[in-house]
Amino acid sequence: MAYASFRSIGAYVPEKILTNQDLEKIVDTSDEWITKRSGIKNRHISADDQTASDLGKEAALIALKRAGMTAEDLDMIIVASISGDYLFMPSTACVLADKLGVKNIPAFDVLAACTGFIYALSTAKAYIESGMMKNILIVGAEALSKFVDYSDRTTCVLFGDGAGAAIITATDNADERIRDIHISADGTYQDFLITPGGGSKHPCSAYVTDERLHFMKMKGNETFKVAVRTLTNDVEEMVKNNNITLDDIKLFIPHQANYRIIKAVGDAIGIRDDQLVLTVDKFGNTSAASIPMAINDAYEAGRLKTGDLMLLDAFGGGLTWGSALVPYAGK
Ligand SMILES: CC(C)(COP(=O)(O)OP(=O)(O)OC[C@H]1O[C@@H](n2cnc3c(N)ncnc32)[C@H](O)[C@@H]1OP(=O)(O)O)[C@@H](O)C(=O)NCCC(=O)NCCS
Repeated sequence: MAYASFRSIGAYVPEKILTNQDLEKIVDTSDEWITKRSGIKNRHISADDQTASDLGKEAALIALKRAGMTAEDLDMIIVASISGDYLFMPSTACVLADKLGVKNIPAFDVLAACTGFIYALSTAKAYIESGMMKNILIVGAEALSKFVDYSDRTTCVLFGDGAGAAIITATDNADERIRDIHISADGTYQDFLITPGGGSKHPCSAYVTDERLHFMKMKGNETFKVAVRTLTNDVEEMVKNNNITLDDIKLFIPHQANYRIIKAVGDAIGIRDDQLVLTVDKFGNTSAASIPMAINDAYEAGRLKTGDLMLLDAFGGGLTWGSALVPYAGK
């Protein structure tokens, strides 16, 4: 049987940095409040002419190179994003495929907000283990700054832009296999994180723009509580179901939304600081890109080596959540 393995990682952030001090000049906030409540110091912001697929392309080229592959070797491209190049059509994956110079392979987006990368990973795993595909590029790419309302202090201090990409390949080596993935959703909380305007519920109109419904909204405090509870349960189940102990995990790489959420979940399950990967301070919340960007950060810092077991977990709009137990099978 073919197993799915996590072969390589890459990431890219746009050049421009928006600091807490910059935000103090735009909205009624302070470096102290943002740091204390979220742990965020900086976030990267894409240029006016830079789209999610542009960021994704840079990350994908790095991941391909590290896997010793070119885009022609790919059987499928999956992009996770809530800030794609276009509203619904064409998919960002199709635009990315064109930018990578490949055609005649399937390319599609998955929409699971901040859990998008884990949903994409789970989709890639299923295609590979069914024997239908061998080499799949998965990308989390976000140009969230284009959907952030910079007059709303409750959201604009949190989000940033960036992309992360991974190559998932078939392997016969059971030690390399992605051990387990769990994904889930609960639509009863659909209004906790929402971009209300532009879809078939509120089609694009002067009303939508006047009411600023085309920007992301979040019930931060409510989301915070559900996130901590759900993520803790999810990660505990993942460890239990796979008969491992926390000592078997080299790196715990959670979605980077808020330092307090990460710390609360880490403390509840008993993760040590040296196992934790934290990038929220320098990138903010980059939604579907946050986990692959954090994996890349650990890789480039020399913290992730061949065979190291990663525990990934994410939570986001939908609401959606998921976790994955993944050995790093790259070099
Ligand atoms: C958004 C978040 C940082 C806010 O922190 P919090 O401790 O919950 O803060 P609250 O929303 O309760 O707001 C507390 C106060 O700070 C104020 N405030 C909100 N944003 C502020 C800002 N940028 N600067 C200063 N004050 C701010 C609020 O107006 C409120 O004031 P009030 O008490 O006078 O009404 C936090 O709730 C969070 O991270 N939520 C979850 C995000 C998440 O995980 N999303 C899912 C994945 S994307």
